[in-house]
Amino acid sequence: MKKSIQSILASIAIFSPAAVSAADIGDIMTSVMKGETSLYNRVAKGKASDAEAKRLATTLKGLEGTKAPKGDQAAWDRKVGALVKAAESVGSGNRQGLMALQNAGNCKACHSGHKPD
Ligand code: HEC
Repeated sequence: MKKSIQSILASIAIFSPAAVSAADIGDIMTSVMKGETSLYNRVAKGKASDAEAKRLATTLKGLEGTKAPKGDQAAWDRKVGALVKAAESVGSGNRQGLMALQNAGNCKACHSGHKPD
């Protein structure tokens, strides 16, 4: 199921972060993380505009306050926080934030701890 970024953003605006379920984490992944040309990839490679980086940060904020689908809740909160903060940093024109975003966005590092099999 593929959702447009607009529909994800709309659902984030309507529901509080606490209402975001694990299924929505998957939706956010599919809409901004997945694939070579994903918004995340373009932002992390420094190929996106500040506005796009801000849009990434806003979408990733939907992960804040969600229950870890698997693994330690505090570790999940930390990883999500770092990811949002790094995207926001890039969005405010901080190119140093790119390295932080690449680290925080490490797919395997997060999936191995928090993605259910
Ligand atoms: C901060 C942690 C985190 C990071 C970083 C992360 N993911 Fe995920 N991802 C998850 C979690 C948790 C799930 C499982 C969601 C569920 O099924 O409940 C997931 C699920 C997915 C899914 C399955 C979506 C679905 O439901 O069909 C895809 C695809 C995905 N991630 C791609 C990526 C890619 C590509 C990257 C790196 C560029 C990435 N993710 C980085 C946490 C993360």
